[in-house]
Amino acid sequence: MKVGIVGERRPGEFRVAASPDSVKKLTGLGLEVLIEAGAGTGARMTDAQYAEAGAAVLDTESAVLEAADIVAKVRRPMLAGEGAVDELALMRQGAILIGLLNPLEQPHQISAYQAKGVTAFALELIPRITRAQAMDVLSSQAGVAGYKAVIEATAHFRKIMPMMMTAAGTVAPARVLVLGAGVAGLQAIATSRRMGAIVSAFDVRPVVKEEVESLGAKFIEVAADAGVEAQTAGGYAREMSEDYKRRQSEAIHDAIRKSDIVITTALIPGKPAPRLVTEAMIRDMKPGSVVLDMAVESGGNCALSEAGKVVEKNGVTLIGHINLPAMVATDASALYARNVVNFVALLIDKKTHALAIDWNDDILKASCLTRTSP
Ligand code: NAI
Repeated sequence: MKVGIVGERRPGEFRVAASPDSVKKLTGLGLEVLIEAGAGTGARMTDAQYAEAGAAVLDTESAVLEAADIVAKVRRPMLAGEGAVDELALMRQGAILIGLLNPLEQPHQISAYQAKGVTAFALELIPRITRAQAMDVLSSQAGVAGYKAVIEATAHFRKIMPMMMTAAGTVAPARVLVLGAGVAGLQAIATSRRMGAIVSAFDVRPVVKEEVESLGAKFIEVAADAGVEAQTAGGYAREMSEDYKRRQSEAIHDAIRKSDIVITTALIPGKPAPRLVTEAMIRDMKPGSVVLDMAVESGGNCALSEAGKVVEKNGVTLIGHINLPAMVATDASALYARNVVNFVALLIDKKTHALAIDWNDDILKASCLTRTSP
């Protein structure tokens, strides 16, 4: 069985689906690893490191895709008309494709996989169950993104984060507000705290209060709607009532007036991101404040942020970086690559090293988009 890794073709994507460490793990599973020369350049991983770990480095993308039984990618392959090369066309019929395929927002690709005859697994659809934690790409990527969000926000903030007492006077600590305390939000809280900021956070799921407080941040509470569970059985946020949204908005508005940096991370799977920061709230922020909207690609938590841009409105800097994990591509790739190894291990027989897919496995059933094997 050959696992193929190619360089990512989508603009701004510096991650790669294998690391030298993951190559060792894949070969340890009895698999051969083929990697396109230069595939790791954006993540600062070299061909020599991959070769030393046991991969065969091939000159071209087509050589890898034509030979691979399993193709592991970070982002979905380029299809006809999307770029210089149709990556799907280069794949073998019957091959397995795994990656962050983004099927909910790009459903058209599914029929292309079916027509080509590949078995495709979208890693973002892996259920958030304990057994799947080691392959949870959403968590591994959101964690590094939450960290980088704070670093980026502070880079645009023209003040310092910690309290500093000097002979020339005392500098007050920055106040950071984190909206949405899931995986990314909790990392943003922890990072802001480590930098010395005073942090408060809000999430519709009251269960996160304890986690927020254990990181040394204040949890902003909004009374839940009577009889409504804010969290789905899968642990995700539910869309709340209009009355709840109004009370939530008042609480956020109040907190935003006092904040220097706002990091928004709120998402509801399959729905546009909840609009939490309004134009009126931005008008009430102190000049020099910074908002980083991590949900900008899903429609944005902030009314004025723009995807892929840093803009200034009413003296407030609004950061709309897309793909924060790619900005820390080395670590993001290393973690992603380990997730991939753990997922691939589910697909193969440990003894024979041949493909052995258990189609009753909840993880595989949930993440499979198309399948060719019986
Ligand atoms: P996400 O990326 O879907 O959403 C981010 C955060 O935004 C969530 O905490 C959500 O509650 C919050 N949110 C949504 N609407 C909001 C609103 N209107 N206002 C404020 N906050 C809002 O979530 P993420 O980080 O992917 O985590 C989802 C769930 O999965 C969580 O319950 C998490 O604890 C759970 N999880 C479970 C794992 C496991 O293996 N058991 C591993 C990782 C996460």
